[in-house]
This record gives sequence, C-alpha cells and structure tokens, in this order.
Amino acid sequence: MESSVNQPLKAEALRADPRIAEARRLIQEAVADHGSQLTGPKPSDPARQAAFQTLLEKLGATRGGPPFWPYLSSGLGNGPFVELADGSVKLDFIGGIGVHGCGHSHPAMIDGSIDGALEDTVMQGNLQQHPPSIRMSERLIDLAKQNGARMDHCLLSTSGAMANENALKIAMHHKSPADRVIAFDNAFAGRSLAMAALTDKAKYRMGLPLAVQVDYLPFRDQGEPKRSQRWAVDELHRLLKRHPGRYAAFWAEPIAGEGGYYPGSHEFFAALCKPLRDAGIPIIFDEIQSFSRTSMPFAFQHYGLDEFCDIVTIGKITQVCATIYGKDFVPKGPILSQTFTGSSSSIATGMRMLDLLLSENCFGKDGKNMTRHEYMAGHLERLHKKYPELIRGPYGEGMMIAFTPGDGSYDQAKLMMDTMFDTGLMGFVCGADPTRVRFLPPPVTTTHQHIDAAIDLLDKSLQVFAKKLGS
Ligand SMILES: Cc1ncc(COP(=O)(O)O)c(C=O)c1O
Repeated sequence: MESSVNQPLKAEALRADPRIAEARRLIQEAVADHGSQLTGPKPSDPARQAAFQTLLEKLGATRGGPPFWPYLSSGLGNGPFVELADGSVKLDFIGGIGVHGCGHSHPAMIDGSIDGALEDTVMQGNLQQHPPSIRMSERLIDLAKQNGARMDHCLLSTSGAMANENALKIAMHHKSPADRVIAFDNAFAGRSLAMAALTDKAKYRMGLPLAVQVDYLPFRDQGEPKRSQRWAVDELHRLLKRHPGRYAAFWAEPIAGEGGYYPGSHEFFAALCKPLRDAGIPIIFDEIQSFSRTSMPFAFQHYGLDEFCDIVTIGKITQVCATIYGKDFVPKGPILSQTFTGSSSSIATGMRMLDLLLSENCFGKDGKNMTRHEYMAGHLERLHKKYPELIRGPYGEGMMIAFTPGDGSYDQAKLMMDTMFDTGLMGFVCGADPTRVRFLPPPVTTTHQHIDAAIDLLDKSLQVFAKKLGS
C-alpha cells in the first residue's frame, strides 16, 4: 500500500490555504491603518470620561477592590503608544510590568495570535500538547545553555508564580528532606502561598501561613559593592552554619526587580554561589522580569554565572512562562503537572517574541538594550542636574531602568507615578526605602525618539510634581 506520508495533513493544508493568507493580510492592514494614527500622548476625551469612570467602578466591584490605576485599554496601540477606553493615549514604558515586549498591536503578535487561533484548541496542557510547545521548549533550552549552563529540560506554565513553584518543587524534591530556602532582602517571587512566603514583603502575606521557611541575605549595594558583598557572604556562612543540611535552594533574581532595580554583578554572585555549590545547595535564578533586558537573553549570562545556574524561571515577555533545569534535577515522582501549560496563542506569540528580540539586535555588549540604557540614563542624569531635589538616579540595568522621585517615600513615588500617568507616561513603583519609579520599555520597539518623548513627559511631570509637593 502506498504511504500517505507525503500527503499534507489537513491542518497543514488549512494553514497553507490562500484564504488564510488573505485574511491575515487584511487584518494586518486594518490594524496598521488604525493603529498608525496613535503616534503621541493625548488627553482623555471629556465625552468618554463618565462611561470610563463607570467601567472602572465596575472593575473595582467585580474584583473586590479598586484597580491600582485608571487603566482600561481600548484594544489598540502602536508600539509603545496605547489608546485607553477614555480616548487618551499613553506612552507605555511599563508594558504590564515587562510583558508587552513589542508594545501594542504589533504585527508579529497579531500574526502569532492568528497562528494560535488556527490551532484546534485554545489551551495546551500536559495531557494534550501540540508540536509548537516542543519547539518553544527546545528554543528556551538552547538559549539557556548557549554559554555552557547545564540546562536540559523545560516545563511550560501559565504564570511566573507557577514557574517558580515548579522550580522550588524540583529543588526541594532533589534535596528532600531539606526544607529551608535562602533568598534576598526585598525579593519578589509571585503571589502563590509558597511564593508569598519567599517574597520579602510583609503586607503581601498578611494573614497567610508561612508555607516555606526562608532566610534572607542583603542584596548588592551599587554604591558600596565590596562592603555589601562581604556582608552578604558573611551572612551566608552564618546561615549555612546555623542550619547545616537544611537548605533546599538558593533563590535569586540576578537583578532585584520589585525590590528596587538593584543590579547584581559577576563578583557578587560568584562569591555567594561558590560556597552554595560547596554545600550542594541548588541555585535557582528567577528571570521572570530580567529575561531579555540585558546584553544577553538571560541576566545570569550577562553576569557570566552559567556554571552556577541549576534552574532558571522565565515569564512575562515570553508570553508563556517556563522552568528550565538540568538533567540531574529530573524528579523521581509525578510532582509536576498542569491542566494548562499555556494558550496556543501565547506559545505562538512567545516564539515570535524570541525571533524579534534576536533579529532586532537587542543583545550584545553594544546591542540595543545596553545602548538604549546609556541613552536613557544620560537623559535621567540631566534631569537630576536640572531638578536635584526631585529626581535621583538612574538605577537598574539594560532595559530595566528606574529613578527615585522626591524623598524616596512610597507616598511621593506614588504621587509621581500618578502625575506621570496623567501627563501621558506610564511607569510603575518598585522598591522600599527608597521607593523608586521603574521603566520596562518594550525591547523590540523602543527607539531613541520614544525615549526622547518619555523624557519630555517626565520633565513636564516633574514640574507638576514639584507644584503638588509645594502646595
Ligand atoms: C522576579 C519575579 N518573579 C516572579 C513574578 C511572578 O510572576 P507572575 O505575576 O506571572 O506570577 C514576578 C512578577 O512580577 C517577578 O517580577
């Protein structure tokens, strides 16, 4: 009997159908026509304000608490510009805290979403997967091991918290019955029960039991790198002595994110990772915020920490989250599984995002992430010189960049953030004592012109901020 292997599958024939190509073309054309009109910030339309306010109140009522800020998108944008449902246009330099790596309504994201829509199911899961799930996992493993890290496996998941849960389960299972974890002061790991315990923010675990026992080390202080390193290493040795054999994992963000945009360094992490290695404690890098934002896809690669990475988690900009780990850590029992590993479109758009991050030259010592950082940092320094009492910084690394407004209190940082929002620029608070305002500009689409526009809006916002502080 003749083999039918050369016959296209019905799904292949569907994807190659000229009607699909034509539909894609028409959708892209329509989105570009309408989206290309969004080229700069714009105030809200007075005629839409009452309806917008009603929607915000409904949002508060349905979720059981008011939203952090008055953001409801209209469903259309253009790079870092996004139209809101009140008719305003904002310059979005926070991107859902690092999710929207191409900005808004980007053709590649639309194309990936169409790929996802053409799959037979909305969701992929551990029981029923499709070939793109394998391709995404293989690409992430290849990227993670490109400089020699021992990475062999990848588990997809639908949130950063779940990727971290999987990482912690892998490490704890590997080191059973060890039950303690070492993390950094001001760490943020997500909102599950275990991640709330790992996260160093008392109000995020208000009324919650502590699911994991965690000890904290001070993070690197850029102003005093040697002293802060000595302090962290001494503290680590004290912990290892106090609880011998009890540590199942060291969990670290290579660049402190929610904690306030403090960069790590090779020296700092190597000084901690060597004794951790000697003690046989698995090292987990959480790159859910830092992935894609430095000179390398992973910040642990940017800091040359490949030899120390046992498990790494990613999320946000990759659209689908993942836990990547080495073969020595494969669990011996069925402790890992999920109904959902990702939506068909998040996997398709995640792959497009990886393509674009590479093809847009985001990486490399002189790649766009590092050069745009320099460019924006120079602007922020100039603003500091112009308004020394109102803005300090810059802080951060690559496309994670922050400043401290006013006196560094939460209240003033929130006031500055709200003032920027009203002026048309979106950034978000981070850190505690001082509280900062951070930017996560979309790495794929941010240009120097966008940065100029952001700085112009920031300058205007600082003038309004100064008036509010004075009044
Ligand atoms: C470093 C880090 N880890 C974990 C998370 C949690 O990710 P998710 O909100 O997708 O659960 C975040 C989210 O902000 C993060 O920044």
